[in-house]
Amino acid sequence: MNCEYFGKCGSCTLYDLSYEEQKKFKSDYIKETFDTFGVREFEWRSSKKSHYRSRAEFMIYHEGDNISYAMHRLDKNGKLPIINCPKTDEKIYELMPKLLAYMEKREILRKNLFGIEFLSSKDEILAALLYHKKLEYLWESEAKECAKEFRIKLIGRSKNVKTSLSDDFVREYLDVKEKRYFYNIHEGSFSQPNRGVNEQMIEWITDRISDTKKVDLLELYCGHGNFTIPLSSLFVNVLATEISKSSIYAAKQNATLNAAQNISFVRLSAEELTQAIRGEREFKRLKDIELLSYNFTHVLVDPPRAGLDEVSREFVKKFQYIVYISCSPKTLERDLRELIKTHKIAHFALFDQFPYTQHIESGVILENF
Ligand SMILES: C[S@@+](CC[C@H](N)C(=O)[O-])C[C@H]1O[C@@H](n2cnc3c(N)ncnc32)[C@H](O)[C@@H]1O
Repeated sequence: MNCEYFGKCGSCTLYDLSYEEQKKFKSDYIKETFDTFGVREFEWRSSKKSHYRSRAEFMIYHEGDNISYAMHRLDKNGKLPIINCPKTDEKIYELMPKLLAYMEKREILRKNLFGIEFLSSKDEILAALLYHKKLEYLWESEAKECAKEFRIKLIGRSKNVKTSLSDDFVREYLDVKEKRYFYNIHEGSFSQPNRGVNEQMIEWITDRISDTKKVDLLELYCGHGNFTIPLSSLFVNVLATEISKSSIYAAKQNATLNAAQNISFVRLSAEELTQAIRGEREFKRLKDIELLSYNFTHVLVDPPRAGLDEVSREFVKKFQYIVYISCSPKTLERDLRELIKTHKIAHFALFDQFPYTQHIESGVILENF
């Protein structure tokens, strides 16, 4: 990837390494971090070298009546005005300068705009415009014109008030092992940023788990069902949980879109789920679910950067197989230190979701001794 902002923009910290050098940098770091667990071989899944991000957020920089996108400077010395970002998917990349020029000419769209969040699927783009002002009727009619001009979905956000001019999601499909999965990906909820690598992550998990035909899967941190839906055909039943109300709403929609009838999605934090399964607490949200009827052998966790809390870490040890997707090698290392007391590491992969940065996504499959 070539970017005119390399060395100035804080978003790409490995800008001076070739892709092969980045791969070596990340692999060496992981080898060193996990050396004590005796894991020396890692599978590697590459990203596209540019236009790999299907979501991206930018600040808006104002100079008189002119606006540009902005990122934090690499030297941490304020904001860097930019016009474009080659990490974004081709549709966002093409839209960015045109949308900026359009809004610059329209005071009502431009004034008090402080950020834009783009979300794309293979066919659609949604842009959320973030304002420091109340959005009135006039803004709505200008924004509708803008959405029509660029054939995009537009949303306005102002002080916790959301003004939707259309759906607040994009329709996505993922192709994995000759099967197509459909998702509504909602603005404001978590979604994997690198579509191509996400498809490879799903493929990696489905290829590496086995003996699932007669057993059930428990998933914590399931989001909108990104992994749940492709994995559901491998298990008899799936219970998938997640803390976010909007993600669970989307997950249920996505199960319907894919005619996946053996999944129960329930809004429960990891901590609540643990309490429910141990019989320590009852939840109305579980009233239609017979927890004791499941034959769970596999647990899948994909927690935020903080990793697993102490109770969940102890809880997952009860399963024969643990599939752990992690966006933080540091907390993964902490959690594995505990999990290897009962499980051995069967597979370890690195998924390059974030080229040109130091971030590393890992996948580990553990099996009870
Ligand atoms: C890294 S995302 C993974 C989502 C999903 N697996 C995917 O691939 O899109 C982590 C998810 O955990 C959820 N989450 C955060 N804290 C949680 C908690 N304490 N209990 C359950 N879910 C939580 C977030 O809402 C988010 O959807």
